[in-house]
Amino acid sequence: MTTKAEAVRAMFTRIARRYDLMNSLMTAGLHHAWRAAVARAAAAAPEGPVLDLATGTADLALALRAAAPGRLVVGADFSLGMLREARAKLAARRARRVPLLAADALALPFRDGAFACVMSAFLLRNLEDLERGLAEMRRVTRPGGRVITLDIVRPAAPVWGALVGLYFRRVVPAIGALVAGDRHAYTYLPQSVARFVTPAELGTLMERVGLRDVRRRSLGLGTIALHIGVVPERA
Ligand SMILES: C[S@@+](CC[C@H](N)C(=O)[O-])C[C@H]1O[C@@H](n2cnc3c(N)ncnc32)[C@H](O)[C@@H]1O
Repeated sequence: MTTKAEAVRAMFTRIARRYDLMNSLMTAGLHHAWRAAVARAAAAAPEGPVLDLATGTADLALALRAAAPGRLVVGADFSLGMLREARAKLAARRARRVPLLAADALALPFRDGAFACVMSAFLLRNLEDLERGLAEMRRVTRPGGRVITLDIVRPAAPVWGALVGLYFRRVVPAIGALVAGDRHAYTYLPQSVARFVTPAELGTLMERVGLRDVRRRSLGLGTIALHIGVVPERA
């Protein structure tokens, strides 16, 4: 693992305890509705296990259990601190059948086609090699299955985009310093959004790794992009 990936992993481990509270404060609680949209799309995938990649504190895994109670969902993340929070939350909610494991999104320890669906929320901006991460998601999804991603993007509307940019650059680091005691992590967040691809570019990358019928939805007034791609059936 590179030093940059190590730094990202250490950062998430540092903020793990305050991560949920920060999400609720930054988004006024809307983050749950965005994950619920991903979970509904995952519930519509063909039968079979679902991977919540970069599960963090397991909110997306729990959203999937609410949308599709019978599904097996596996959570994977490379931060042991986040996984510890996930385990405590799953136990508190008495959520059984959600195995958690440590894994790097750029080298997944699963065989080809192991899952009917691989979903991720707020992972992609953090990857050093976005195309490789998408290719791994596609590799471990079986033919006919779905790859679903959710992430923060820069809104296309110029005035609204400037206001959101200001909020991310000025307000978010201040809340991060106050609540999580970590201004750095919440300065990294807007920087990662600024560096990230546009929704159209992400759609193109998903097609480049072999996904088909790529659809995208805009949520949160253009601040959130949800993408769904299908792994083609073998010829
Ligand atoms: C912003 S959090 C998102 C957590 C969760 N998916 C959610 O919806 O709240 C990003 C997560 O991605 C994980 N992550 C970042 N890069 C990763 C990688 N290369 N492999 C595995 N996990 C990674 C971090 O440890 C962190 O838990």
